[in-house]
Order: sequence, then C-alpha cells, then structure tokens
Amino acid sequence: MQVTSRYRFAAAHRLDTPALSPEENRKLYGKCNNPFGHGHDYVLDVTVRGPVGEDGLVVNRDAFDTLVRHAVVDRLSHRNLNADLPEFAGTDCVPTTENLATVVRDFLMKAWTLPAQLVRVRISETERNTFVWEAGR
Ligand code: NI
Repeated sequence: MQVTSRYRFAAAHRLDTPALSPEENRKLYGKCNNPFGHGHDYVLDVTVRGPVGEDGLVVNRDAFDTLVRHAVVDRLSHRNLNADLPEFAGTDCVPTTENLATVVRDFLMKAWTLPAQLVRVRISETERNTFVWEAGR
C-alpha cells in the first residue's frame, strides 16, 4: 500500500548559470531568469510504501508529518533558494525544480526514521509542471 501526504511551501529562486551568457540564460530559463528572482508556491507530495499494520495504517501520520516538516518544509519555506540553501548558494547547482526535488529527496533520506519506505517525491512548481523522483528509477 502507498500513502501520499501533501505539503505546501513558498520559496524564491532565480535560474541562472555562470556557464552561459546572459542572453543564453534568458533563452534557456525564460521568466525564471529574471534578475531579481521570483517566488513559487510549491506543492510537495511525499509517498511511502509498506504493509498495512494491525492498526490499519501504513505509517503513523504524525510521525510522517513531523519528519517532512522538520526535514524539508521548515528548511525551504520562505527562503531564497539561491542564497539561503547551502545546496545551491555559492555552487553551480541551479535551483530548478528538478534539482530541488533531488535536494528534497536527500533531506528526507538523511532524516528518515519511519518503517515505511520512501518511494516518491513529487514537486509542482506551477499548475502546469510537476517533477518526480521515484525510488529505483
Ligand atoms: Ni521560477
């Protein structure tokens, strides 16, 4: 059985790589290259898998929520991803939502204490695009 919980956080970013010229960055990243950054209301879905226990549950919901909030939401909420996160600040790693999903997966894996298995991290940046990491793919 799989269980998915949804979380929301607002954060700011700017997509820009020093490997490209300003014009190439504008072409590649579009509006997300605007010089002073902008915010997104990200939607994060975290999926776990495991057997249904005698209590009828796959995972203790309080423990699940607390882990995701501490490991991810509290660290990203109302942050400037380029400046506030060591995973992006001062690195060549651009805070695309692809890279953000990888960072979120790593945060979760480092903090993971639940018996259920983490199998999917899904982040929507807007209503029109969604990025998914899945275990084993
Ligand atoms: Ni953007």
